[in-house]
Amino acid sequence: QRPLCRLLSCPGTVAAALGREEQSSGSSETGSEDRTPKKRFSEVQKERREQAQRTVLIHCPNKISEKKFLKYLSQHGSINNHFFYESFGLYAVVEFSQKESVASLQNVTRTPSLGTEAAIPFRSRYFNLKLKTPLNQTSEQSSIRCRNQSSPSSKKLFELLCCAESVDDQLSTLLRESQLTEENTRLRYLTCSLIEDVAAAYFPDCAVRPFGSSVNSFGKLGCDLDMFLDLDEIEKFSTHKASGNFLMEFQVKNVPSERIATQKILSVVGECLDHFGPGCVGVQKILNARCPLVRFSHQASGFQCDLTTNNRIALKSSELLYMYGALDSRVRALVFSIRCWARAHSLTSSIPGAWITNFSLTVMVIFFLQRRSPPILPTLDYLKTLADAEDKCIIEGHNCTFVRDFNRIKPSGNAETLELLLKEFFEYFGNFAFNKNSINIRQGREQNKPESSPLHIQNPFETSLNISKNVSQSQLQKFVDLARESAWILHQEDKDRVSPSNNQPWGLAALLLPSVANSMSLAKKKKKPASERIKNLLESIKSESTENSTATNG
Ligand code: CTP
Ligand code: MG
Repeated sequence: QRPLCRLLSCPGTVAAALGREEQSSGSSETGSEDRTPKKRFSEVQKERREQAQRTVLIHCPNKISEKKFLKYLSQHGSINNHFFYESFGLYAVVEFSQKESVASLQNVTRTPSLGTEAAIPFRSRYFNLKLKTPLNQTSEQSSIRCRNQSSPSSKKLFELLCCAESVDDQLSTLLRESQLTEENTRLRYLTCSLIEDVAAAYFPDCAVRPFGSSVNSFGKLGCDLDMFLDLDEIEKFSTHKASGNFLMEFQVKNVPSERIATQKILSVVGECLDHFGPGCVGVQKILNARCPLVRFSHQASGFQCDLTTNNRIALKSSELLYMYGALDSRVRALVFSIRCWARAHSLTSSIPGAWITNFSLTVMVIFFLQRRSPPILPTLDYLKTLADAEDKCIIEGHNCTFVRDFNRIKPSGNAETLELLLKEFFEYFGNFAFNKNSINIRQGREQNKPESSPLHIQNPFETSLNISKNVSQSQLQKFVDLARESAWILHQEDKDRVSPSNNQPWGLAALLLPSVANSMSLAKKKKKPASERIKNLLESIKSESTENSTATNG
């Protein structure tokens, strides 16, 4: 137990955190709490997409009466839900009950006349609201409550962590404070839906679906928005059983490969977003990447977007991660903390390079949880054995089958605390034989590395791929050094527990501070690496604590 004075030293922030907890437990799939029954990934995607299609985005004047605004919009039909947020101006997200209301609103909306410039008359669901006469000061101008769309500053987070009651509480606090909110999730689906409207200019029945951390339950406020342009929706219409002896096919243009087709499609959609997409700026076509993409900023939502197509396996791995995140409430808390720790030490970066990615870190945590005794998470092969005919899924020859019904998976009998798991994670990977072993969540055990990349993490579905092929030896070493140091810090705290020094950052907060080992190893490059010394220290602490274990257990 942490001293009460720590709690009392920042009552405001604790109260704020508690208030948030109440809110988030009511939200749908974004909360951390165990909720049963859990919704299937496909159900969530379907519901959210349909909701987004009934939703509009409105840039509002800074001074506005919320009541009058809602009354004005209600002329087009009843409103299910709305919220405001700030992002270089005031924005409103308004969800109507019926899709027809959107069309009705579009019918009374005009294309602006811009004086010397000319407007591209694209009729989107992103509007600009103007006041014919500005609101005067005396009118009933309620203060508008804006929903926050960004994660707390490192300073605020640090304070909150120092005020927590225990390491377990620290991990839960971090999750609660940085996970996607209900509103941010809505905004992500809406942004995809707005992009879908643009892509539909070429492919009328396409779907633009979010994937990656926006939907896999591991996204934090401010993460990028990965989008998948799904053209197979169109294909589905033609898979109906043809009657009789006739089979009709479209006349199409052929190109030499799937990759070229992908590049051509993304190229035109990228052009379209650049020229006609309201609010889409900085459009870059990155078509020579392994997975070709169009990158742009969606100004109104503030999201950095990556649009890909022909990338269905990534959508499937988002579904798998979503399942793992929902199977046990400790999974997300641990993943968020490891990601936050990695970011604090610049192990991850928003710039692509030789560093570990958040996706790799997530898979490492899942693997670690599969290795606990008893396991906290099942292996992918086991999830495959539980699958039924409906779960069967083969994508481009890869077997992506796994059970999707949560009720068929038994909860884990492992009751380890988050504190223990955090410490053990650092020890486990601080001592992992990265030079010879590969991380494999399909089988849930180490495999011999099939190739010589410093870090080998098998792609769960495209098993010949290494998801961390980009990671250099020095980045891996940095990860190992920091993991060892963090394990050591947590062990030291365990030892000192009798006399906690009140004003020092502790637990997870201490792990986010700049590394001692790293600066030492930089300063004394030729001496024995700091991590080795820490490893030895850790060993000695561990043997001491095993000797004393009967005493401490008592
Ligand atoms: N992906 C993959 N193989 C990789 C990289 C990514 O299959 N080598 C897939 C994963 O499904 C991942 C998604 O693409 O979730 C999006 O990648 P990325 O944006 O890099 O990761 P996120 O999980 O979205 O995490 P972040 O919050 O850092 O964006
Ligand atoms: Mg992402």
